Amino acid sequence: MAMKTIVLVYGLVALATLLQLADAEGCPFSGSRRNLLQVAPPLPAAPAPLPGPPTGPDVFEGTLLNYDFYTQICPTFKAIVKDKVASAVAQDSLAPAFLLRLFFHDCFVQGCDGSLLLNSTVLNLAEKDQAKSFTLNMFWVIDAIKDAAEAACPGVVSCADILAATAVEAVLQAGGPPIYLAYGRRDALDSFAAAAQTNMPGGFLHVQGLIENFQNQGLNITDLVALSGAHTIGQTRCSTFVQDRFAISGNNPFPDTDYGQEIYSYCLEGTTAGVDRRVALDSNTTTLFDNAYFRSIINGRGILVSDNDLFVDSRTIPLVKQYAADQGAFFNAFAESMRKMSKIGILTGTQGQVRKQCWVRNTIDKVANPFSNFDFDPISPTICKPARTTDTPVCASS
Ligand code: HEM
Repeated sequence: MAMKTIVLVYGLVALATLLQLADAEGCPFSGSRRNLLQVAPPLPAAPAPLPGPPTGPDVFEGTLLNYDFYTQICPTFKAIVKDKVASAVAQDSLAPAFLLRLFFHDCFVQGCDGSLLLNSTVLNLAEKDQAKSFTLNMFWVIDAIKDAAEAACPGVVSCADILAATAVEAVLQAGGPPIYLAYGRRDALDSFAAAAQTNMPGGFLHVQGLIENFQNQGLNITDLVALSGAHTIGQTRCSTFVQDRFAISGNNPFPDTDYGQEIYSYCLEGTTAGVDRRVALDSNTTTLFDNAYFRSIINGRGILVSDNDLFVDSRTIPLVKQYAADQGAFFNAFAESMRKMSKIGILTGTQGQVRKQCWVRNTIDKVANPFSNFDFDPISPTICKPARTTDTPVCASS
């Protein structure tokens, strides 16, 4: 036993000496030995988990929205929206642009209260029939979502929230950032064309006019530039901008003169043939939600006056440059400004109502009171939705 102990001690001493020698002579393995003998360094900290979607209430100026509003009362709501938006995109790759724009028009006129969706009545012209709404499109997607939501969870999902959720999903499916909105908006009882005329900014506005328009909605210059980035997807009609950009100045106003000439010829050719052609707002990537719109503006290819001028005014130029250089910065700013926009003039709690159909206010008896708020055609008693020139009306007997 004693002998074994002596051999073991000698063995250990010899091994230690060998290792020391190896170290001194620069043996290539000495490093690994040192690692073995050293206390293992602490593992690098795991990367912080990405912040998940917010939960719980979102209190804003006394009104109450909740990130979990539909979790219990309509758990399939988000899946319905996702599915219907995907179907729309499969039909038309510009669908995200149409759907995002609907939300903007709803929020800027009387608040995000679904008033945009109400049809005109015999005595009242609604928002959607005002000139600035003429080129809005794909109301039928909202109706399809509403029908599916009503089938899954009757009477709880508001049209105002459908517009909000659809815009969020549209941005996502076009390649844009996730936008976390709280829900619980309720629907307006009225809709007025005059309000759309007053509140919707025109594509002919210069920066000062745009700033004032956004200020009236409680939005600032950062919101203006970030939200203008929505024009990274979609198109505009030639009739919308040709007068403003070419006829008034009398020459080619595009900083990229070749591009201006190209656009002008293209539009003129269409006009001659009696067609109002459509032009990409961001010629780089018309169906992709990215930051290329800002580079288009910098490169002198902004189509609308309101786009081009963002790179003319010293108050907006730095932001345009920043978003053009950094897509992450644009995405963050866009998501934040969308959250602000989504809270403009909302109805919550017991205000307004949750419409059963988005294009008509709830009613007990349409026929008894055809002139008040309802979509009632006195000539042929049918209900037509969505009663827009740009969509095919779907009519059913009332
Ligand atoms: C900054 C003020 C804004 C002005 C002056 C403006 C004006 C316009 C105009 C004139 C058009 C073309 C309409 C046509 O000819 O068909 C348009 C298209 C569009 N706007 Fe804006 N807009 C503004 C802000 C916004 C915001 C905040 C959003 C959404 C968050 C938005 C989303 C869109 C989209 C996606 C399109 C393309 C629609 C399509 O392809 O049919 N716009 N905008």
